[in-house]
Amino acid sequence: MKESISNYQEGYASLDPGAGFFRPDSILARDFSVLTAALQFYENKGRKSLRWLDLMSGCGIRSLRWGLEAGGPEDKRESSLKDLEIWVNDADIDRCKLINTNLQPLLKKEISLFFKNDLAEDLLARSYLDKCFFDLVDLDCFGCPNSLLQPLMRVLAFDGILILSSTDGRSTTGHDDIGAIRSLSASVRTHPASWEIALRLQLAAIARQAWLLGRGLEPLTCFSDGRTFRIFVRFRRNLVQDEETQIGFLSRCEMCGAQSSQTLIKLSEWKKCLCKSGSARLSISGPLWLGPLQSPNFLIVIKHLAQQLTIPIADRSEKLIDRLQSDQGLPIFSWSTHELASRLPLEAPPKLRSMIRCLKQEGYQAFANGIVPGHFRTNASIGELLRICEEKFFQGFK
Ligand SMILES: C[S@@+](CC[C@H](N)C(=O)[O-])C[C@H]1O[C@@H](n2cnc3c(N)ncnc32)[C@H](O)[C@@H]1O
Repeated sequence: MKESISNYQEGYASLDPGAGFFRPDSILARDFSVLTAALQFYENKGRKSLRWLDLMSGCGIRSLRWGLEAGGPEDKRESSLKDLEIWVNDADIDRCKLINTNLQPLLKKEISLFFKNDLAEDLLARSYLDKCFFDLVDLDCFGCPNSLLQPLMRVLAFDGILILSSTDGRSTTGHDDIGAIRSLSASVRTHPASWEIALRLQLAAIARQAWLLGRGLEPLTCFSDGRTFRIFVRFRRNLVQDEETQIGFLSRCEMCGAQSSQTLIKLSEWKKCLCKSGSARLSISGPLWLGPLQSPNFLIVIKHLAQQLTIPIADRSEKLIDRLQSDQGLPIFSWSTHELASRLPLEAPPKLRSMIRCLKQEGYQAFANGIVPGHFRTNASIGELLRICEEKFFQGFK
């Protein structure tokens, strides 16, 4: 049995993570979860009571941090914690005893706490039957979360927010074709920006389930460390106009590297790549989400709240917010300068910043990719990228 770190500190929380699964490294996701809860608390301004659900809570750290941090300090609080319900659930009975002990500091507050020891499937089904709706749900499960999406959305209030984690890295990054068909109903091929593709595939899976209920979705933020894929999404009462055009396919020629995309609604022939007729080898992934991955406004507001309410997030989280804020996630085509350098070849890959500057000077869109380190995104074609690299960065052959 794993030994426990009996007094772990994170944010304002001090707790025993116990002997079960716990990753201190997931602090980024927990910081973002607290900031999202704070955003909802402050947007709501006491207009209605809020109900938050930590569906697979482990040692209860997210709920504890929500209760201690999301309302901000008392002197700055605009509405009472009396208006807040926090539901903390884990199916493992041993975790439940620990959760109870860990959440003692919240019992002194006015928050209504509900401790549950149910299978997520049972809790969601019962909540649906009882018409018990949640404004915020954090689902931090092992593996793929997709079997829970539909029951979960049925208990999310209008404008509710879902915080979803998936550790199903194999099928979403093109390393398990059959698994991808089963869990995502999608074709998934390997891609140099596989972390981003995984997030886009997961968002498409969420969109399909939301649209079945006539609900629309707005991605607030997404990120990954390559092992876990984190998505924060708000569900609107209805779809916005043309929301269905956000789903489609991404192709990449395995020979020349050319990338192209198509919406599902106007699916037709693929654009020609750089290869001679008949020699192209297209790897096609999708259906995936073609739209933005980040809401810059959401990121600006959570950063402001962190400062205004002195929410103690890690420096790494602050840096991640800044990185994501400057990359909305469009255009969808992501490149590494290493790939371009090896195709020419160049002696060394151009610096990311120089490449982006050159592309902008030529009138193209270009941004550092906030999700995949060392990548940039652009609307320039592979032909143009290679021309620019050759003209600006060629210093002789390898
Ligand atoms: C990844 S851990 C949660 C970690 C926690 N959220 C954190 O930030 O440290 C997943 C938890 O889900 C629980 N679990 C697994 N399957 C479940 C199910 N079907 N229903 C409810 N809980 C479940 C496990 O007992 C485990 O504690």
